[in-house]
Amino acid sequence: MIRANELTKKFRLKGEIDIVALNSVSIQVRDGEVFGLLGPNGAGKTTFMRLISCLLSPTSGTLEVAGFDCTRNPVEIRNKIGLLCEEPGLYERQTVFNNLSLYGELYGMERDEIEDRIDELSALLDFKNLLEMKSGRLSKGQRQRVSLARALLHEPEILLLDEPTANLDPVSANAVREAIRQIQRQSDNNRIVIVCSHNLDEVEKLCKRVAIIDNGHIVETGSIDNLEHELWKSESFEIVLKGGTPSSDFLEYLAKLDVVGDVQIIHNAREEPIGSTDSHLVLKIGLRSSPRSIDRNSEDIIADVVKLVAAQSNLKIVSVSSEKHSLEDVYLKLMRDKMDDVKEFQEMSAPGQD
Ligand SMILES: Nc1ncnc2c1ncn2[C@@H]1O[C@H](COP(=O)(O)OP(=O)(O)OP(=O)(O)O)[C@@H](O)[C@H]1O
Ligand SMILES: [Mg+2]
Repeated sequence: MIRANELTKKFRLKGEIDIVALNSVSIQVRDGEVFGLLGPNGAGKTTFMRLISCLLSPTSGTLEVAGFDCTRNPVEIRNKIGLLCEEPGLYERQTVFNNLSLYGELYGMERDEIEDRIDELSALLDFKNLLEMKSGRLSKGQRQRVSLARALLHEPEILLLDEPTANLDPVSANAVREAIRQIQRQSDNNRIVIVCSHNLDEVEKLCKRVAIIDNGHIVETGSIDNLEHELWKSESFEIVLKGGTPSSDFLEYLAKLDVVGDVQIIHNAREEPIGSTDSHLVLKIGLRSSPRSIDRNSEDIIADVVKLVAAQSNLKIVSVSSEKHSLEDVYLKLMRDKMDDVKEFQEMSAPGQD
């Protein structure tokens, strides 16, 4: 478990005011979780990672990592941490093998154990062919994979990944994500993984819970599903129709169903090729309240409504899609809402014009 309580980190620049990189952050990450940390540049994500790894000490507040306090027991914590930082450094003149092996020795690992782990991780992250190459000759992506292996070498209880797939080509990025999943499946599922990434699709694929940080403050924490549900209280789905228009009686009937909120028709919803006589229309159907909070799940409700539409002889269904918001939608909405709040506050506190 990682427990931060009102954690604050200020940096004092010579002759200038303090930079508050983290401002009273309270957060908990549970054992076995893959947790995402999101936020714009300069938000405080790396600072948080560095505090967890005891590379920095807090200005105030408390931070407990795997049962140890970060100011009283930094050595115990460091032994449990594997960190992949934003710009990983390697001994450039040493081979990849020697880099990894030196690191293993630092962690007090036995020779045989080190060699077995290097063998295993270089296969998992696909760099067996690079083991005898000098690290200074590695490409950015190769360096990233080797550094991830280094972070994993001593089988840490807590794995901190700061932009793990930055600089990687799509195939390598996918291999790294797959490796993270595999590592998580292999362990007895108690390892904590924290991923900082600007790639929201990646965070969505890897993490169930996230925290969004902006300007040192936590904007929101929660599971991606719950955040989505909080922001868009109702769900809706769309049925694309061809060759007919639903009668107004039928639309009225639909709108009166218990589970249905509002029903909208969007005509000429698709751009048709010139000369085409087909025209599509979209029936957008909102579900009443939260289907998650009632007994039936939304898929069953949608299936029932689609059956009703399909039973209308003049309507031909082309496709059905339910509206699902991505983590990117959640992130952008939260950040926009926050900017709107700041703007409103500034306008309210600005001196009057008259
Ligand atoms: N050693 C330092 N000395 C002074 N200021 C620092 C130091 N490290 C970080 N900062 C400042 O703290 C703030 C948070 O930086 P941090 O690196 O944690 O952001 P980040 O969320 O990781 O950003 P990015 O997405 O760009 O990596 C920034 O304003 C940064 O300039
Ligand atoms: Mg950073």
